[in-house]
Amino acid sequence: MKYDINKIRSSFPILHQQVYKKQFVYLDSAASAQKPVQVLMKEEQLHNDYYGNIHRAAHFMADKATVEFEAVRDKVQKFINAEYRKEIIFTKGTTESVNLVASSFCEKYLNEGDEIIVSEMEHHSNLVPWQLAAERLGAKVVKLPFSDNGVLQIEKLPELINSKTKLISVAHVSNVLGTINPIDEITKIAHEKGVAVFVDGAQAAQHISVDVQKMDVDFYAFSAHKMYGPNGVGILYGKKKYLNEMPPYQGGGEMISEVSFEKTTFNELPYKFEAGTPNITSVIAFGAAIDFINEIGIIEIGEWEHELLEYATSKLKEIEGIIFYGESPEKSSVISFNIDGIHSYDLGMLLDKMGIAVRTGHHCADPVMQHYKIQGTIRISFGMYNTKEEIDVFIAALNKVRIMF
Ligand code: ALA
Repeated sequence: MKYDINKIRSSFPILHQQVYKKQFVYLDSAASAQKPVQVLMKEEQLHNDYYGNIHRAAHFMADKATVEFEAVRDKVQKFINAEYRKEIIFTKGTTESVNLVASSFCEKYLNEGDEIIVSEMEHHSNLVPWQLAAERLGAKVVKLPFSDNGVLQIEKLPELINSKTKLISVAHVSNVLGTINPIDEITKIAHEKGVAVFVDGAQAAQHISVDVQKMDVDFYAFSAHKMYGPNGVGILYGKKKYLNEMPPYQGGGEMISEVSFEKTTFNELPYKFEAGTPNITSVIAFGAAIDFINEIGIIEIGEWEHELLEYATSKLKEIEGIIFYGESPEKSSVISFNIDGIHSYDLGMLLDKMGIAVRTGHHCADPVMQHYKIQGTIRISFGMYNTKEEIDVFIAALNKVRIMF
């Protein structure tokens, strides 16, 4: 099937706007993806046609909303090929998913002196929660380093694992380097030594076909808003053997079975981890985003984005003074770079005035900046809707700025 970029773009009204009287070029999908009309319409339809609080009430509207909400759990299960629907937990974002596991898994399985291995290329969201848990329990966070080209040194993993190691946490795709990490190799090494693996999939699920069973991950987290869905929804996949044993993360409505002042018992999975009224509207609209991705095909999207990645990289290589961060042979559609003599903030600001949205700074990954001894980078990132023409506009703008400096 042909990749119909014009049809895809016609679903995203924001892409057809002008910014400072220039055609808007959005190269910041790794921060958050734009939303197609199908998702926006679903949110509106829900409020107009059948809104009610889910799981709780015995009336038509609430029942219909509940059915739609639970249908999205099925869609997510299928999307990542989880074995059981109860292994899919809705959270408010990848960050909350990490915090849930860092809190609950560590409480159950970690003792004083134990260790958690975290890769050096992590977003703060996949480092700080482990540090907090380690501090609380008297455990230790151990760094799995990456090489200067942005490739994780997984050959070091076997020697880092010891009898104290309880979990390894790693990004599927780095939000700065674009590196696609070999998750199946990591789980193989970890599981041989009885260690669990948590994967931050926030930069992967919108680009790569994710199969949690094939990769044999124990936990996998991602966010709806990076997948063309609404804000405020995250997903946590966890193997039921762990989730069943882990204590609840938060107390409240829905997560209980029976409550008295003497004793409270907890609901079964997945509800044990879904305290309070969830983000009903956004979860249901996220279902429309999954449908949208499925209609185009995640493989086709990945191939298109890879073409953009190669095209942009080759054009950028022609720019004098360019320094790339992240040149892994296995790379997703993220390019981080600096141009010698130009501060990334200045560059980002001038590009913005030309209608081009990029991200500048440390990208919430200070350890990556420390690795390269830099303050920040420019980062461009692609979504299913970007084009080579937009890359040409970006490169021309970059050359203009370079001449100005
Ligand atoms: N984590 C998002 C990014 O990398 C916000 O830009």
